[in-house]
Amino acid sequence: MCQKLFNRRFLQNLFALALASLLMYLSLQISCPVFSNTCTTYYCKPVVQKSDLLSFQLNRTFVAKSSKVSFSGDNFSQVASSGEMNKLSASPTSSTVITSTSRDLFLSREELLKNISRNLDGLGLFETIDDEEYLKNHSDFFAPRVGVDNYLDHQILIQAEDLCLRDETFLLIAIPSVIGHKEERDAIRRTWLRSSETNAWPRARVKEKVKHVFFFGYKKGSREEDLKNLLAESVFYNDIVMVDFEDSYRNLTLKMLAALRWTGNFCERAEFFLKVDEDTMINVPLMIEFLLHARVAAKSEQFVVGRKHHHEKPEVVRNKDDRWVVGDLEYPFRYYPQYMLGHSYAISRAAVPVIVSTARRIRLVAPEDAFITGIAVKTARIPRLSARSFSMCCVVKYDCDVVWNKKVAMTSLDLLHLEKLWTSVAQQSCDDKIVFLK
Ligand SMILES: *[C@@H]1O[C@H](CO)[C@@H](O)[C@H](O)[C@H]1NC(C)=O
Ligand SMILES: *[C@@H]1O[C@H](CO)[C@@H](O)[C@H](O)[C@H]1NC(C)=O
Ligand SMILES: *[C@@H]1O[C@H](CO)[C@@H](O)[C@H](O)[C@H]1NC(C)=O
Ligand SMILES: *[C@@H]1O[C@H](CO)[C@@H](O)[C@H](O)[C@H]1NC(C)=O
Ligand SMILES: *[C@@H]1O[C@H](CO)[C@@H](O)[C@H](O)[C@H]1NC(C)=O
Repeated sequence: MCQKLFNRRFLQNLFALALASLLMYLSLQISCPVFSNTCTTYYCKPVVQKSDLLSFQLNRTFVAKSSKVSFSGDNFSQVASSGEMNKLSASPTSSTVITSTSRDLFLSREELLKNISRNLDGLGLFETIDDEEYLKNHSDFFAPRVGVDNYLDHQILIQAEDLCLRDETFLLIAIPSVIGHKEERDAIRRTWLRSSETNAWPRARVKEKVKHVFFFGYKKGSREEDLKNLLAESVFYNDIVMVDFEDSYRNLTLKMLAALRWTGNFCERAEFFLKVDEDTMINVPLMIEFLLHARVAAKSEQFVVGRKHHHEKPEVVRNKDDRWVVGDLEYPFRYYPQYMLGHSYAISRAAVPVIVSTARRIRLVAPEDAFITGIAVKTARIPRLSARSFSMCCVVKYDCDVVWNKKVAMTSLDLLHLEKLWTSVAQQSCDDKIVFLK
């Protein structure tokens, strides 16, 4: 999760990112000698055989569907100088030529926005996560333990009354929050979470009913004024649930288990539980299409879907100074089971109560994503699917993929970035798509 700034995992990610950018930069230098003035970091990969090229005269807005695209030099720089970076729409007097191996590499912007379920095709959807070799000999660990009986029935202190009763909820969005983050909550409510309750989305219809809840623990020593404000917020929005356990980073696992338990008790008909971090934006209509696809792909009532951690074997933090340290007693192996990135993941309705009952009988560990989508899900033998359309942590160039309905989630957004991305969604334009190397 990207919020956990400056822990070791974050620094590792940052390093990997820097390395990846360097490699990408180098590969551009190598693969695009001809177009080096106008080539884009995003598209300019293979330079295709001349005889295979198709040319398009452009007077509409196009978005490239794959990396096998290049642009002809002179004409293209004219478009660039018009300031319409991503739009590639030529003025009537110029004729911009885009070359590609196949017409299919392009979708017009209109097409992209019109039929979003089409965008889900060919995105490398749904890789099944198999059992890991290195944990195969430890199946006795991934089983309910005698003598472990975690208390998960904490009392509800603030309730979102009858939230799911009024209509058939399809998607329950659960966002862990803390008292001090009113500004973050308001920003989310104002932007992509508007689709909750209203079913509104810029120029698209949210087909299914969406509800959301911000989840809190109880922070000892909270000022009475802050609690009063939170209560007022709860009365106003009816989207706050506070549960009676100590709210802390190390208790995030308890918080998500409380959210799952609450969903099982008070929103039990919701087809999907979607965990979303406060710094993450969801393309709600696309997410719904995506989950409908996932249900077919999973071939099972119970499943979890997200983006698998980019390290094949996510390592357990043993450094005692680290916020996410996990002791040998809690989890004895060097690596976690493959798990999902924590910024957003979805759990099917049938899997929700199973994860909660499993979590009562195994040792809890603090990193919530590793516990819920790794250890608990593996113990309960719930199938896991990984999909690329959940953006990877911290890669800003994927921004526009949310706008163009190609990614269901985008993370590492601060408030300014969130507002900017939402404006892009609302206006259905996005400037970061093509970056020119000068
Ligand atoms: C470009 O615009 C002209 C006139 O509006 C139209 O006849 C033509 O079909 C368009 N070409 C493409 C590729 O859309
Ligand atoms: C644009 O490119 C085409 C094909 O390469 C060329 O025929 C045409 O003259 C160019 N137009 C301008 C305005 O440079
Ligand atoms: C949208 O695209 C999908 C997949 O290509 C297709 O099956 C469906 O019929 C399309 N829907 C509309 C309304 O065009
Ligand atoms: C699992 O155990 C078997 C037999 O004890 C051993 O031969 C094998 O190497 C072990 N596999 C791993 C991945 O540790
Ligand atoms: C987690 O919550 C439980 C229940 O309130 C509490 O006893 C425990 O101290 C908390 N742990 C941390 C690390 O905050």
